[in-house]
Amino acid sequence: MTESTEIFCANPGDLVQLVGLSHKSFIFNLIEGGEFQSHRGVIKHDDLIGKPWGIQIFSHNGSPFFLLQPSLPDILKSTKRATQIMYPKEIGYILLHMGIGPGKRVIEAGTGSGSFTTALAYSIGESGRIYSYETKAETQRIAQRSLEKLKLTDYIEFKLRDISEGFDEQGVDAVFLDVSNPYDYLHHVKKALKPGGYFGSILPTANQVMSLLVALRQNDFAFIDVCDISLRYYKPEPSRFRPTDRMISHTGYLIFARSVTIDHTLADRKLLKEIGMIGLEDERLFDKIQDSEVQTNLDS
Ligand SMILES: C[S@@+](CC[C@H](N)C(=O)[O-])C[C@H]1O[C@@H](n2cnc3c(N)ncnc32)[C@H](O)[C@@H]1O
Repeated sequence: MTESTEIFCANPGDLVQLVGLSHKSFIFNLIEGGEFQSHRGVIKHDDLIGKPWGIQIFSHNGSPFFLLQPSLPDILKSTKRATQIMYPKEIGYILLHMGIGPGKRVIEAGTGSGSFTTALAYSIGESGRIYSYETKAETQRIAQRSLEKLKLTDYIEFKLRDISEGFDEQGVDAVFLDVSNPYDYLHHVKKALKPGGYFGSILPTANQVMSLLVALRQNDFAFIDVCDISLRYYKPEPSRFRPTDRMISHTGYLIFARSVTIDHTLADRKLLKEIGMIGLEDERLFDKIQDSEVQTNLDS
């Protein structure tokens, strides 16, 4: 096989994607002698090996497919689900916002179905490390199997543990919590993060976000950002270009913050307010304290 055949064609061991009618997609590893079977017919893996990417293939009963290399979003969407999973529209932004790239050490909880774990492992590469905590053994096993198929497990340490017991690691670059009560674990997050490290979380409801905001302030996290991400698709039809009829509206709120060290007696109130560490309530408190100090000085 020449070098260009190896690069441009499907080879044994490759992860391949067959996309059929109605964008139905199947992702699997190519094995010599293997067979792809679905309700749309059978295709021998040997008939795909050596074929250039992007060509059309037909199953034994004539169903059409395109032969492609799957993108990371394709892989994430096809993750076998044991839990609710995180989606590419959020994951892409989270990775950028939290500075997650080659060589970074990142803690996440819970592993769930491993959708976010997959994206993390792709991003940090062989010089980085993911520590993935989960309480449910069967859930984590499903995620582990998915990651084994993608040959990404070497970058991940799976831990079957409730994070209320704390984390084993210290000095990590980032911690991401996809659990319903992240506010209960911020003291552990603080101990595990390096100074200035990134914290992130995703929550479905506003009242959870509010509890988290209070806990972030109490645990000296600053540069707090809350956002949600809407993604609108368009029909790619030049003669009647318009948005698609349906859209996923709410998936979750994203909350980000950084671990800082503050001497509250010296801290500048204006700066604390700017970085989201004090709010209206705290301001009123400051005012009250200041007023009573002024009064004490006047009285003495
Ligand atoms: C929504 S799922 C995570 C989905 C995952 N991020 C993904 O993209 O596939 C939440 C997971 O957190 C786990 N979990 C909840 N509380 C936990 C805790 N205190 N410690 C560890 N895992 C926890 C649950 O068992 C569940 O599997």
